[in-house]
Amino acid sequence: MGTVLVFQWLLLLVFSILAMAKPNNNLPGSRRNLGQDDDAISSSALQMFYYNQTLDHFNFQPQSFATFPQRYMIDSTYWGGADKNAPIFVYLGNEMSLEGTLTYLGFLSDNAPRFKALMIYIEHRFYGKSVPFVSSQREALKNETLRGYFNSAQALADYAELLLYLKKELSATYSPIIVVGASYGAMLATWFRLKYPHIAVGALASSAQFLLLDENIPQDAFYRTVFHDFQDSSQSCSETIKASWDEIHKVASKPDGLSILSQKFKTCRKLNNVSEIVTYLKHMYYQSATFDMPPTDMICRAINGGSKGIDVLSRIFSGIVAVEGKSSCYLNESKLLHNEDDTDIGLGWQDMKLVLKRFGSNIIFTSGLRDPWSTGGILEDISRSIVAIVTKKGAHASDVLKARKTDPEWLVKQRNKSLKIIEGWITKYYDDLQFVP
Ligand SMILES: *[C@@H]1O[C@H](CO)[C@@H](O)[C@H](O)[C@H]1NC(C)=O
Ligand SMILES: *[C@@H]1O[C@H](CO)[C@@H](O)[C@H](O)[C@H]1NC(C)=O
Ligand SMILES: *[C@@H]1O[C@H](CO)[C@@H](O)[C@H](O)[C@H]1NC(C)=O
Ligand SMILES: *[C@@H]1O[C@H](CO)[C@@H](O)[C@H](O)[C@H]1NC(C)=O
Ligand SMILES: *[C@@H]1O[C@H](CO)[C@@H](O)[C@H](O)[C@H]1NC(C)=O
Repeated sequence: MGTVLVFQWLLLLVFSILAMAKPNNNLPGSRRNLGQDDDAISSSALQMFYYNQTLDHFNFQPQSFATFPQRYMIDSTYWGGADKNAPIFVYLGNEMSLEGTLTYLGFLSDNAPRFKALMIYIEHRFYGKSVPFVSSQREALKNETLRGYFNSAQALADYAELLLYLKKELSATYSPIIVVGASYGAMLATWFRLKYPHIAVGALASSAQFLLLDENIPQDAFYRTVFHDFQDSSQSCSETIKASWDEIHKVASKPDGLSILSQKFKTCRKLNNVSEIVTYLKHMYYQSATFDMPPTDMICRAINGGSKGIDVLSRIFSGIVAVEGKSSCYLNESKLLHNEDDTDIGLGWQDMKLVLKRFGSNIIFTSGLRDPWSTGGILEDISRSIVAIVTKKGAHASDVLKARKTDPEWLVKQRNKSLKIIEGWITKYYDDLQFVP
C-alpha cells in the first residue's frame, strides 16, 4: 500500500516561514539553546520549548515514568489572553519535524488574528527533535524497547498531557482548544476529539484517509484517482501514460532490455530491474496528482509536447525531464533509494464511520477529490456536527496550507466554511460557559 508516500511530501515544499511579530515573554516551559536547525524556524513571534513528556502513558512499570523532551512552539502574537478566555489553536504534529510543518502550514497563522487565538504547534514523538533518549529517529527505531513507544495512541496522550499542562501554566482554564491536523495528522485530530472531548471543543481534519482499507473501497481506487487527474489534464496524455506500462515491460523483457530502458531514460546507472523505473514513475505521478508538485498539467504538456511520431517512452521521458529539470542523467541512486526508503507508520484502521457516528461530534473533514487520498476520505456528513467539506478540485490538505492571493475561489470558500463552523463551536462553548466575550 502506498500510505507511506504521503509522509515525504512536505519535505519537498519550500515556502517561507511564519510571520514575525512581538512575543509574549511569559510563556511556560524551558527554553533551550537554539541550535543551527532551530534557528531556521524560530522568529521573535514563534517561541520554542521542550516539555518533559511521559514516555509511556499506559502502564505503571517503573521505567514508564521516564520522560523525554518533546518540542513545541507557541506564537502568542494575536492571543486575546487567558482572562478573555481567548481560543487556542493547536496543530497536532504529524509524521515530520516542526521545521517541515512550518514550511507549508498556514491555517493557524492565517486565522489567529480573526479569532484572537493562541497558536501551539506540537511535534509528534519520534520526529524531529522529539525522539526519546537518542538523537535520531533512525537510531531509536533500531532499539526494540524504544520502538514500542512509537505509536499513535501514545502520541495522542502526549498531546493531551501537554495541553493540560499548558492550560494550567497559562491559567487558560476556560480557553477553548481547536485541534488541527493534516493527512495522518487529520486522523490524529479526529481521534483526539473522540478520545479527549474535554480538552478540545472541535477538530479540523484536513485530508484524513480513514477508509482507505475499508473493504468496500475498490483496491485500485487510489491510482484510479491519480489516473483521472491526468485524464482531466489531457486525454491523450493519460493514454500515453497508460500505454507506457505495457511498453516498458515489453522492452524490459527483451534480451538486454534493461540497458535499452536505461538509455531511453538516461538513468545515472543501469537499472537493476524493471520495477525500479515503474516505482519511480508511479511515485512521480502520485506526487503530481496529490500535491500538484508539479501539477499534472505541466507533466502532460511535456508528454504531449513532442512531435507527432515520437514514441511512447520518449514522451514519458519528456515528462521526467519536466519534473526533474535538465540534467546529465536521471533517476540517480538517491532517487531510487528514496523510493525504497518509505517507512510505514502502521496506522490502526477501523470502521471509522461507525465510531464517528456513535461517539463523535464537532469534527470537520475537508477533502479535495483530485487528491488520491480522498478515496479513503470522509466525504459525506456523518451527523449534524460531523461535516464533510468536499471540493471537486483540491490537492492533499490544500486548505491548511498558507493562504495566497492567487488561491482559487473554491479553496477560499472551503476555508470560509470551516472557519464559520469553528466560530459556531466557540460561540456555543462561550454560551455554555455563560461567558460574554
Ligand atoms: C526536564 O527535565 C530536565 C532533566 O531531568 C530538567 O533539568 C528540567 O528542569 C526539566 N524541565 C522542566 C520544565 O520540568
Ligand atoms: C534501548 O533503549 C532502552 C531505553 O532507553 C535502554 O535501556 C537500552 O539500553 C537500549 N538498548 C540498546 C541495545 O541500546
Ligand atoms: C529491484 O532492484 C532493487 C534494487 O535496486 C531491489 O531492492 C528490488 O527488490 C528489486 N525488485 C525486484 C522485483 O526484483
Ligand atoms: C540526484 O538527483 C537529484 C535531483 O534529481 C539531486 O538533487 C541529487 O543531488 C542527485 N544525487 C546524486 C548522488 O547525484
Ligand atoms: C471568505 O471570507 C472572507 C472573510 O469573511 C470574505 O471577505 C470573503 O469574501 C469570503 N470569500 C469567499 C469566496 O467566500
